[in-house]
Amino acid sequence: AGPRPLAGRRVLITAGGTLERIDPVRYITNDSSGKMGFAFAEVARDWGADVTLVCGKTDGTPPSGVQTIRVESAEQMKEVVMSRVPQMDIVVKAAAVADYRPLHREEHKIKKKAETLTLSLVRNPDILQAIGEWKQALPGKRAPVVVGFAAETMELERNALDKLNRKKCDLIVANNVAQEGAGFGTDTNIVSVYGADGFAEHLPQMSKKAVAQRVLELAKSRLAPEGL
Ligand code: C5P
Repeated sequence: AGPRPLAGRRVLITAGGTLERIDPVRYITNDSSGKMGFAFAEVARDWGADVTLVCGKTDGTPPSGVQTIRVESAEQMKEVVMSRVPQMDIVVKAAAVADYRPLHREEHKIKKKAETLTLSLVRNPDILQAIGEWKQALPGKRAPVVVGFAAETMELERNALDKLNRKKCDLIVANNVAQEGAGFGTDTNIVSVYGADGFAEHLPQMSKKAVAQRVLELAKSRLAPEGL
């Protein structure tokens, strides 16, 4: 085994997409494969951390050696994440959380009737923002380093910095999901990382594992000294 820079640290990672049910057999979801979050879980595990992986809908199998908690909807993910955040040193929110869910979850399969059918959606809670607000409400106390993601198709930097400020995270990892070799499903990513402290770094195309290594290094350097 190599060096274990996160030994004794607790890391929570969310991965995959959330799934929002319409009726017993239908749902809304997104293209997240879970690969980026899995890469974080693997690296954090290999670096000696105690890893909790909160996992929505994914293509692959979560890495071994981490505590995986399966969730389906954004509301379920929020409940699991918020109950564990206070114990964490680092929180990485790599999941693609649905912004909206069906207003009503029909108890029975929706029947085919009229030519058009309107589905009403309601906003989901923003988990990352909830973590940011929770952190702000406990000044001085030990709080985890929080890493958010920004998957964009345009105005990458502006949107990422806006998210960093609004959601009060320490680091934001921005990627242009419309770019070849980046985003959903691929094994590589092209990201820029921004910090609340003004830090900015543009990384070349690299494996999701290498992205996770770099971002965890940046998160580690923002940790409060142990024992605080
Ligand atoms: O606003 P947007 O969804 O693009 O922000 C992306 C970041 O916020 C990701 O880190 C994602 O996991 C997180 N997020 C969240 N809860 C939501 C929406 C996004 O935690 N409801």
